[in-house]
Amino acid sequence: MSHRNIILIGPMGSGKSTIGNIIARRLHRDFQDSDHFIEERTGVDIARIFDVEGEQGFRDRETNALNELLSENNRVIATGGGSILRHENQQLLKQKGYIVFLDTSINQQMQRLRRDKKRPLLQTENPRERLESLLAERRPIYLGLADLAVKTDRRMARRLAADIINQLPENIK
Ligand code: S3P
Repeated sequence: MSHRNIILIGPMGSGKSTIGNIIARRLHRDFQDSDHFIEERTGVDIARIFDVEGEQGFRDRETNALNELLSENNRVIATGGGSILRHENQQLLKQKGYIVFLDTSINQQMQRLRRDKKRPLLQTENPRERLESLLAERRPIYLGLADLAVKTDRRMARRLAADIINQLPENIK
């Protein structure tokens, strides 16, 4: 049977890959992570793409990746935190899946990303400030796109994944 995709959106460090993986296993779906997909395609990591092609170059690759990943049904897809910025991507996500927003606090993000070296946008003097300004800009977009928004703080990944599955409409499960 063909099911609509389940698309996870939310900021860096909200647990999209971890939760997405669990949901996919439980529902026997294919799991795809947009950043991994881009890295596999290019053979280099995201930081390198930012270095060589700038953020714009990365965003172009991200749009292409989303188009490709969402050309099939039955998938659970973890998106990159900034994938919701382009209007074109927003339309695509809405059209191609059921959108779940992982709504995380700055503290939780900081805990998860404290030692991160892989995310170009966080290689700054004050990562907390960066996360705050990204969230201020993006949270309204996440909320506007979400079919389901879940708070992720202080919750075990497996519990959270089970809660999300419980809240999915019947035709998505
Ligand atoms: C980004 C988030 C990252 C990655 C890139 C840019 C962003 O993905 O796509 O570093 O703009 O928030 P995660 O949300 O998986 O960390």
